[in-house]
Amino acid sequence: MTISLPKHSKMLTPDFTFGVATASFQIEGANTADGRLTSIWDTFCAIPGKVLNGDDGAMACDHYHRWEEDIELISHLGVDAYRLSIAWPRLMDEKGQANQKGLAFYRQLLQALKAKGLNTFVTLYHWDLPQYLEDRGGWVNRETAYRFVEYVELATKELGEWVDSWATFNEPFCAAILGYEYGIHAPGLTSPRFGRQAAHHILLAHGLALPVIRKNSPNSQVGIVLNMNQTYPASMKAEDQFAALVRESLDNQFFIEPLLSGQYPKLLEKVLPDHLPTVLPGDLDIISRPIDFLGMNFYTCNHNEYDDKTLFRDVKNTQKVEYTDIGWEIAPQAFSELLINLNKQYDLPPMYITENGAACADVMENGEVNDEQRVRYLNGHINAVNDAIEAGVDIRGYFAWSLMDNFEWAEGYSKRFGLCYVDYDTQKRTIKRSGHAYKALLASR
Ligand code: FCB
Repeated sequence: MTISLPKHSKMLTPDFTFGVATASFQIEGANTADGRLTSIWDTFCAIPGKVLNGDDGAMACDHYHRWEEDIELISHLGVDAYRLSIAWPRLMDEKGQANQKGLAFYRQLLQALKAKGLNTFVTLYHWDLPQYLEDRGGWVNRETAYRFVEYVELATKELGEWVDSWATFNEPFCAAILGYEYGIHAPGLTSPRFGRQAAHHILLAHGLALPVIRKNSPNSQVGIVLNMNQTYPASMKAEDQFAALVRESLDNQFFIEPLLSGQYPKLLEKVLPDHLPTVLPGDLDIISRPIDFLGMNFYTCNHNEYDDKTLFRDVKNTQKVEYTDIGWEIAPQAFSELLINLNKQYDLPPMYITENGAACADVMENGEVNDEQRVRYLNGHINAVNDAIEAGVDIRGYFAWSLMDNFEWAEGYSKRFGLCYVDYDTQKRTIKRSGHAYKALLASR
């Protein structure tokens, strides 16, 4: 089993970028080193029952100390680019002053990546909000958007020179809705009013940050990363189709529509008005400022049944399908469908697939990890991207999630997404079969 593309695929040309992705809190560890402040994820991990097995980010992959070895690994895979995120709590103190040690860490990291000839895709916010801002209301407080701009001013001014591509946010849906509406991510609040207002402030922060990034880092491209699941009705029944429509509005359109069309989904005004945020005059113009690219993270699809109370309810596919170790349906055709449909609905900017991957129950045997399911997953999804490109979607790059196994949020270390296996006792990294297959695909170009 290999990963392969049709011979004449655009994805095999030098214009297409292949990479691997990670995020600060998931890999860095060293969460009290060099003046790093507490983040909402440190706080959340410390609440019993929030994260599986009581896992936390204190050690993670110890990347903060092993970054040189990790860059060797990235480079060895033969990728064109590396997508990472910066931890806000490392960069600034409570008074908004620069933390020189935190800056130095990212500076040396980025410089070393550039020295290896790698393109750097940097996310400014991959969920690790400083706790002191959460204490003042976090993303529900509009002020946080202005604090974000101050952090972005510092980050882009100090580090812009070594960054090819900036993303303001990773997955506003997860940061806002999983964090403030469903309560399964930090900070763990549970009201649609909080979730939707948090989402609005995140989108506002994105728009406010754009001119700052362009000013400080004029040679980089700037965009945002959304996550989407392709949404299906559980049956052809009208009420199930309606359920899928509501789900799509709440999870997907709620984020892409304000960014690209300057409005929140109209459907919600009628159906779920309490899921619409308070918007001040001018906000939507700020949110819909032009971006250079849209990042898309894709993992799976969902099936929706009508529910009297919540309007939709997740159900399993009635067809016989395959699932990954995290219980997500493997549906590569849903990926191309999603991309092609978005391209019909919107004037999409150039797209990057900024995350895609599978959690597998990997086992190390005789020094090897034979993650055959992940190889098939990647092969299917990379070909789905190729199908979307052939159907006219302007996709410029693909990043596998993830470089290595890491802290998978509420699932702790129990779910492994890496192309490289991490032995958490020794911190030894071992390239899995999928990593070798990915490398071989890239080398075949
Ligand atoms: C995405 C996150 C990423 C990772 C994958 C599995 O939602 O952006 O950090 O956890 O899921």
